[in-house]
Amino acid sequence: MSDARDMARLLLGWYDRARRDMPWRRTCDPYAIWVSETMLQQTQVGTVVPYYRRFLERFPTVATLAAAPLADVLSLWAGLGYYRRAKHLHLASREMVARHGGCVPGSVEELLALPGIGRYTAGAVGSIAFGLPVPVVDGNVMRVLARVFGYDRDIAVAKNQGFFWEKAGEMVRSVGDKETRRQGDKERAGHGGIGARRYGDVNQALMELGAMVCVPVGPVCGECPLRRQCRALAEGRQGELPVKSGKKAVPVVRKRALILLRQPRGRTKVLLMERPAGGLWEHMWEFPVFAEDEKDVAGVMGMKLNNMRACGEVRHQLTHRTMHYEVIVAHTRRALPAELPACDGGKAYVAARWVAWPLAARMALPVAKVVRKLAAAVPTNISALQEALSSTGKPP
Ligand code: ADE
Repeated sequence: MSDARDMARLLLGWYDRARRDMPWRRTCDPYAIWVSETMLQQTQVGTVVPYYRRFLERFPTVATLAAAPLADVLSLWAGLGYYRRAKHLHLASREMVARHGGCVPGSVEELLALPGIGRYTAGAVGSIAFGLPVPVVDGNVMRVLARVFGYDRDIAVAKNQGFFWEKAGEMVRSVGDKETRRQGDKERAGHGGIGARRYGDVNQALMELGAMVCVPVGPVCGECPLRRQCRALAEGRQGELPVKSGKKAVPVVRKRALILLRQPRGRTKVLLMERPAGGLWEHMWEFPVFAEDEKDVAGVMGMKLNNMRACGEVRHQLTHRTMHYEVIVAHTRRALPAELPACDGGKAYVAARWVAWPLAARMALPVAKVVRKLAAAVPTNISALQEALSSTGKPP
């Protein structure tokens, strides 16, 4: 038996015993599998589950997703991060309606031609939903394979990643013999196109092993189905592998965020603005944000602002930058200015709206997690807030 086939068989045996029950593992629907794999990129399983459920309830098919406005899709994504994924999902659903009869296409080439679908997603959807013998490589898979094969080149270097695609591909393609078929595959084959072969399960087993056993720190080697094959374990090098070059230091970006309140007919409202297309958080709504050295916030807003004061600081970590906000709160009696200010010193905000304050747990407008963090810096106890706003403290 080849090494690859041996390992695939061991992986599948372990996966059948140890795999977690997840909602997307109970379906054969390619659309649901595509949504889950898109959400799972850069995001942990525990975080994804409630988002996946809400998303599929609201958009149960490609057609319902394609027919929805982008703002609705972003609202359901709000808090999950990496919002470009939602935008691409939406765009791709429209292409599926236009070119694939409202279905997720079943070949790797067609999948790769869709917005937001790269080698990882095409491999996951192709193997799990359509039973194609194609591999999937993510961070978990690279860690498992780097340890098993004692691969000690830098996995952060793109050209070194070919090794993992090759090894994962060999494992996946080795599957297909009688012994790797699982009871029930025949029935599954009748629903949504899953074949009798378990290519998708080998991929999911590798990812699952990386998430549950072959974890970055303190791998549980005693429970690993590949412990006899693992070079890192044999050589006591689990802690050294994989080799991954240090991340570059991310810059700190300093901003001021304005929480602007207004009380029409005794109800407190706060101003949110929609970010322009392109760049970070496109089409998401936020409190207006200014450069940290912007002294004339009222001038930039084109509004009279009363009792402006600082009420805290918020740090928010993104992949490529650390955001640092000074939160300022102010009050106004004015309506919105005719012209909206620039967003991040570039294109202007594209819309503005007064919404109920404090922010509702779920809102119709899509807001990123950082907006809720900023809101939490302000006392939501309305009387404490009003006191702060009406006292004549020095503006910041
Ligand atoms: N990570 C991303 N997709 C996954 C899957 N289908 N199973 C386990 N972990 C995953």
